[in-house]
Amino acid sequence: MTERFGFTVNARDGRARSGVISTPRGDVRTPAFMPVGTAGTVKAMLPESVRATGADILLGNTYHLMLRPTAERIARLGGLHRFMNWDRPILTDSGGFQVMSLADLRKLTEDGVTFRSHVDGSKHHLSPERSMEIQRLLGSDIVMCFDECPALPATDEAVAKSMRLSMRWAQRSRDAFGDRPGHALFGIMQGGVNRDLREESATALKAIDFDGYAVGGLAVGEGQEAMFGVLDYAPDFLPEDKPRYLMGVGKPDDIVGAVERGIDMMDCVLPSRSGRTGQAWTPRGQVNIKNARHQDDPRPLDEGCTCPACRSYSRAYLHHVFKAQEIIASMLLTWHNLHYYQQLMQGLRDAIDAGQLAAFVAEFHARRAEGDI
Ligand code: GUN
Ligand code: ZN
Repeated sequence: MTERFGFTVNARDGRARSGVISTPRGDVRTPAFMPVGTAGTVKAMLPESVRATGADILLGNTYHLMLRPTAERIARLGGLHRFMNWDRPILTDSGGFQVMSLADLRKLTEDGVTFRSHVDGSKHHLSPERSMEIQRLLGSDIVMCFDECPALPATDEAVAKSMRLSMRWAQRSRDAFGDRPGHALFGIMQGGVNRDLREESATALKAIDFDGYAVGGLAVGEGQEAMFGVLDYAPDFLPEDKPRYLMGVGKPDDIVGAVERGIDMMDCVLPSRSGRTGQAWTPRGQVNIKNARHQDDPRPLDEGCTCPACRSYSRAYLHHVFKAQEIIASMLLTWHNLHYYQQLMQGLRDAIDAGQLAAFVAEFHARRAEGDI
């Protein structure tokens, strides 16, 4: 166990890398997928079950936790790790992105953003300084800069203006974060789908100097082709020796494409959220367990999966508990989906280590093309 934050690349295959992020709370194997524990829980899962799927790190949210139960209360209760019973690394998002998608009556200024809570309508303010304070109170291991993420499509002018504000906020985030050994601060690149703006953003962040760099502002309505277009050049603007985190991505094929393009970390609500809406992800693509074709099917969701849902339950049972709105339906499907995502990450890491990524990716697409049978 290390006392400091660090990142080591162990193997490369094309532009993809595998490695380890080391933190005082444990190692994170990369490429890593971070399950989302927005409100201090990965919904429908015990933390030990999330760990059993293979997760090394969770994501938490400044926005949700500041509103309820508040960062100050969590700090009094010993910090987010103890509060939610997860002693491994936690990365927290900084709040700006969630304010823009969830809060009411938002007002953006140079200082930050004032908004009303989606929970009870109460008024709040977030700035780079306040976001750093909240993430410190939570005890986050990897703190994200406070940024603004414009929805796409937007004009180049609007994207440039927003990105330059985020870069000023990145400097203020760095200044407010200070020197905290064992904790990391990541910058967030913005710039939409404009190559020059992406490069300008990366240059600004590198001059400030961060422990890791996120690619933000993607998966916001531009589509996979445009996202991969940005990922074809954007990671190369960032330092080789620091982790690169693609925020809010994605579907399994997005993840595979991002890893091929040099991304080391990702997070997404998809495996957990879609578990609660009856969508399962398997090597053969998506399965909608609500579909009547499953009601007499004694087979597991995925014959090759070793998760509890697939080891012990039939599609017929999963279909039934889903239709009956039983809580176990969300539990089993979430577990399966998180297990599938972590298996995919392990497969990617092993393939990179073996110099076999191209063959792994070809097999990944071939199995999906067969479809669910
Ligand atoms: N989550 C997904 N995209 C973004 C982004 O651009 N910024 C932040 N802070 N969080 C995100
Ligand atoms: Zn399974």
